[in-house]
Amino acid sequence: MEIFRTKTVEQSIRDTEDPEHQLRKRLTATDLTVFGIGVIVGTGIFVLTGQVAKETAGPAVALSFVVAGIVCGLAALCYAEFASTIPVAGSAYTFAFATLGEFPAWVIGWDLILELALAAAVVSVGWAGYFASMLSSFGINLPASIAGEDPVVNVPAVLIVAILTAILVAGIKLSSRVNLILVITKIAVVLLVIVAGLFFIQAANYTPFIPEPKATEEVGGLNAPLIQVLFGVTPVAFGVIGVFSAAAIVFFAFIGFDIVATAAEETIHPQRDVPRGILGSLAICTFLYVAVSLVVVGMQRYDQLSTSAPLSDAFRSVGHAWLGAIISVGAIAGLTTVVLVLLLGQTRVLFAMSRDGLMPRSLAKVHPRFGTPARLTVVIGVVTMALAGFVSFGELAELVNIGTLFAFVVVSIGVIVLRRTRPDLPRAFRAPFVPVLPILSVLACLYLMLNLPVETWLRFLIWMAIGVLIYFGYGYRHSRTAQPVKGGL
Ligand code: ALA
Repeated sequence: MEIFRTKTVEQSIRDTEDPEHQLRKRLTATDLTVFGIGVIVGTGIFVLTGQVAKETAGPAVALSFVVAGIVCGLAALCYAEFASTIPVAGSAYTFAFATLGEFPAWVIGWDLILELALAAAVVSVGWAGYFASMLSSFGINLPASIAGEDPVVNVPAVLIVAILTAILVAGIKLSSRVNLILVITKIAVVLLVIVAGLFFIQAANYTPFIPEPKATEEVGGLNAPLIQVLFGVTPVAFGVIGVFSAAAIVFFAFIGFDIVATAAEETIHPQRDVPRGILGSLAICTFLYVAVSLVVVGMQRYDQLSTSAPLSDAFRSVGHAWLGAIISVGAIAGLTTVVLVLLLGQTRVLFAMSRDGLMPRSLAKVHPRFGTPARLTVVIGVVTMALAGFVSFGELAELVNIGTLFAFVVVSIGVIVLRRTRPDLPRAFRAPFVPVLPILSVLACLYLMLNLPVETWLRFLIWMAIGVLIYFGYGYRHSRTAQPVKGGL
């Protein structure tokens, strides 16, 4: 069927050579690893650790990070193989186009918008929260209508997105430099937590390491995890099951390594360096997460951890508020890079979709001076500003998780398909144990998806349905794969 027409790998690579739609190649493996860490270490470790330890996993939250890290590791190996075979902007979208066809590719591209733009908005709201609290520690209190819990317009969130959009328009090299400074600050703060925290650990806080399972209040209706509705399982907190449920939440902390693949086209030696960037950043982050969570639950009993700023509050609890303040500043730096790279990834995916004609092609024009897809970056910036400024999120972060897990499932299936359909392609990096490893990756991601609430599933399906309508209303007719001869702007 036409909607399953694939775009050959050769065609994808050829498209990147079209001078009007060409991105500059400047990035190295180190740049990519920094990008990866820049987007991975964020709200997950700075905020979710406390919440999950307190409510779902206890001190065993460190094990939840290991579980989520393993699920991501499986998917990361699949991403690495793809990115080394098809080094073209667009990540999962491009991979799906090469293997499953145009319509599945559109679905995944549309899904990535959910992951990236929504996550950028969510994290910028988190950034605004830390920013407001830092200002208030200097005695400056922003009015509740422009900052705080439920503002009319979240001004700091809008401003940070505006500034980062301008940086992205100005050029990727500048972006990676800004990113580098912020990432160094963030990692220094994370290491500070680990090293300074070691002095305050009390062994007693580790017992019980996995608290006894405890039935939670029946979460009914749309808030219940899908797995509970499907299989009639009663939700429990803590215990071994709690470790796994918590893994579905802390999964958020790992989101971002996949975005490294979106920068493949701007990498000098993508075949070698993209797998290094993806696997390297994931490995470093997993190590940091496990270390931080072990230290934090050792400093303060898990049931007393704070849910909004657990890392800095753990230091306050042992009488070192000044260390807590330094950590807040690190969190602000950390969240800034997360928003930056999420926005960057989003521009690259939409860039690939527009270049293929599934979105208006004029959007994909590269700015003659900056060498970046400026028009598209501004459009994404404005949409994200609107989301960050006016929408109150909360559980929408779970939508980000489901969207990302869905992309992982498609990429893992794609690896098996491409090995069958194009065994001839040079693969600088090959995932081991194919097809067993990608199948395990699919199952692991599906398991985490099942742990998300019914409401999240419904929102996800509605978003996807809108995407399908747009595809048949626009993309299907304008696709360049359908009309290679016309192909103009
Ligand atoms: N992994 C990113 C974070 O934790 C999205 O904020």
